[in-house]
Amino acid sequence: MITLGEYIIEKQQDFPEATGELSLLLGSIRLAAKVVNREINKAGLVDIIGATGIENVQGEVQQKMDLYANETFKAALEARGEVCGIASEEEDEFVSFNSERGINSKYVVLMDPLDGSSNIDVNVSVGTIFSIYKRVSPVGQPAVLEDFLQPGIKQVAAGYIIYGSSTMLVYTTGNGVHGFTCDPSLGVFYLSHENIRIPEDGRTYSINEGNYLKFPDGVKKYLKFCQEIDTPTNRPYTSRYIGSLASDFHRNLLTGGIYLYPSTASAPKGKLRLLYECNPMAFLIEQAGGRASDGYNRIMEVTPTELHQRIPFFCGSKNMVKDTNDFMAKYSG
Ligand code: AHG
Ligand code: MN
Ligand code: MN
Repeated sequence: MITLGEYIIEKQQDFPEATGELSLLLGSIRLAAKVVNREINKAGLVDIIGATGIENVQGEVQQKMDLYANETFKAALEARGEVCGIASEEEDEFVSFNSERGINSKYVVLMDPLDGSSNIDVNVSVGTIFSIYKRVSPVGQPAVLEDFLQPGIKQVAAGYIIYGSSTMLVYTTGNGVHGFTCDPSLGVFYLSHENIRIPEDGRTYSINEGNYLKFPDGVKKYLKFCQEIDTPTNRPYTSRYIGSLASDFHRNLLTGGIYLYPSTASAPKGKLRLLYECNPMAFLIEQAGGRASDGYNRIMEVTPTELHQRIPFFCGSKNMVKDTNDFMAKYSG
């Protein structure tokens, strides 16, 4: 039984130049995950379900757990002094940590502290998604916006936590994707899924089909393709949509499949956020042998211009993502 802490230290030894800061940073995320997990497990018993009545900068109503998770991860990351700043779905602007240790740190974290938060009220899995970069500004000064607006290919680590039927932390540092399951009686994450690989062909598609009439033609045609009967290619595929990206992604990662959040007539850039939803998932899926695109181009090569930038997202098994891109080129080119 290898714990997450042991595994991170073991892997750090593969990088002679590593100073241990990234390991400590992942340790802060692990600690915050345990605290958030404990609170989520009490949802329904204490006053943490439901909305706050406040909207975030993107015009979405914040749930009480959104704010709790944001504060918990922010506090854990600031306290250890391993990052010079964070950006979050729940913060209008990036936050720089200006303590002596903070400004001397070389990493920034971008996060969706609670993904799928409306699912909490109905006891369905939710998650946390994170993305880690090396700053581009000089060490010794407060973080600047450019530290956060880096393309996904520059990520040094990314991952997510799922608060589900069991709680898991899945991460990559560019050397495969590894999953750890929390033993709730001990509060310890143990290695349970080493070197996860997504099947190249899947037969699950995940999309909010209620938006069908507003989808681009390429997506409409692809959905009809998924529903056609064709035994040699295992069609019709199966539709599964939880409505929390982390959970839908996790299922597809383990069993094969594709997650789609395309543009719609009313939301031409889609719904998901490039920096703290799509890029970390794109890094993970590529490390597992899958693909992530915006329908035409590789997600991780997009140069961001804004912290809360949205982008269409097609992510999953290599050949399924390729099929969607072919349909987009043909019918929505
Ligand atoms: P968040 O709770 O962080 O705002 O993210 C919700 C996202 C994503 O997790 C999910 O897949 C998607 O929104 C669901 O959107 P629809 O309700 O439009 O399907
Ligand atoms: Mn989200
Ligand atoms: Mn969120």
